Amino acid sequence: MDLTQRPRRLRSDPVRDLVGETSLSPSDLIAPIFVDATTDERVPIESMPGHERVPVDESVARVEEVLATGVEAVMVFGIPRSKDPTGTRAWAEDGVVQAAIRRITAETDATVFTDVCLCEYTDHGHCGPLEDGLEAAHAAEGEGDSDGEADADGTSGPGIPHGHREPTLTVDNDAAIEKLAQVAVSHAEAGAHVVAPSASMDGMVGAIREGLDREGFESVPIMSYAAKYRSAFYGPFRDAADGAPSFGDRRHYQMDPGNAREARREVALDVEEGADVLMVKPALPYLDVIADVRREFDHPVAAYNVSGEYAMLHAAAENGWLDLEETAFESLLSIKRAGADLILTYFAEDVADGLSEKRPQA
Ligand code: PBG
Repeated sequence: MDLTQRPRRLRSDPVRDLVGETSLSPSDLIAPIFVDATTDERVPIESMPGHERVPVDESVARVEEVLATGVEAVMVFGIPRSKDPTGTRAWAEDGVVQAAIRRITAETDATVFTDVCLCEYTDHGHCGPLEDGLEAAHAAEGEGDSDGEADADGTSGPGIPHGHREPTLTVDNDAAIEKLAQVAVSHAEAGAHVVAPSASMDGMVGAIREGLDREGFESVPIMSYAAKYRSAFYGPFRDAADGAPSFGDRRHYQMDPGNAREARREVALDVEEGADVLMVKPALPYLDVIADVRREFDHPVAAYNVSGEYAMLHAAAENGWLDLEETAFESLLSIKRAGADLILTYFAEDVADGLSEKRPQA
């Protein structure tokens, strides 16, 4: 054959790695960890094999496990000792996340990111205080959804009030962003290096930037969950962080899965409001959005490989249908190829361990 073009030439062993376009390193990864004020011992998270909720006393040990794999950053989520309608434990000085951050920053070199949201702290599970009247309607109805669980698709039963259209808004946006600014400041006061607001409220990034600056935290960056979709892939996270809405769902504030142009608009607003890192969430079902944000903006781009993306590979691997290590690596590599600089992933430790095994030991 008289072939001039033979792409296979570059796939031979000595050259293949040299011409590789995308690489993955432990320093690209952020490991989410769960600190739980309601337990004295580690509790395995059933739908996320290998992950646990740990008490504050174990938070440093948990972070040291992450660091031992070569991953340098963690994202701290908290499960508070009690919940109320506004989520006051989210900004308490002695809150679960604040206590954990103090210890982690005092005793380790980890870079500490914190999730800034209210859904784990409100008794109704929404990402901010409810609008006037809605709270009362909810209370009058009793427990809302009787088992307090949303359905698998992230929706739960009829909205409130019954028999009519759902209310068009559930969370009081402007009240929520004030509270979120307080949460971010309380995290910065405890020593958080980067705050990551995930509540999908309008003006959230601006309010947080203003709050941080006012309190002297001008140098604390904001990694915004800028393009955050209402996704059924968050299912297993509910087991982990106990933040499912007790009624209704998040479609009134999180983005519809079919919308890509809207993501650009959301990201542009966060940039205007002072976001430093732009996140897309989830990752694998939204690689096109990651690629678009990468093209349109020069800020660092992060992607959240969420709980459902983790759980589905584990479930398939347990059945012997997929190789867990290889599919996890390929997933993260694809997310980088799409344009992410940073990846939040429950695979962080396992993949980082795998990467260091492949590297020749010095
Ligand atoms: C809080 C928050 C959620 C996740 C991260 N931060 C839940 C949600 O928005 O419904 C989900 C992460 C995951 O599924 O891994 N708002």
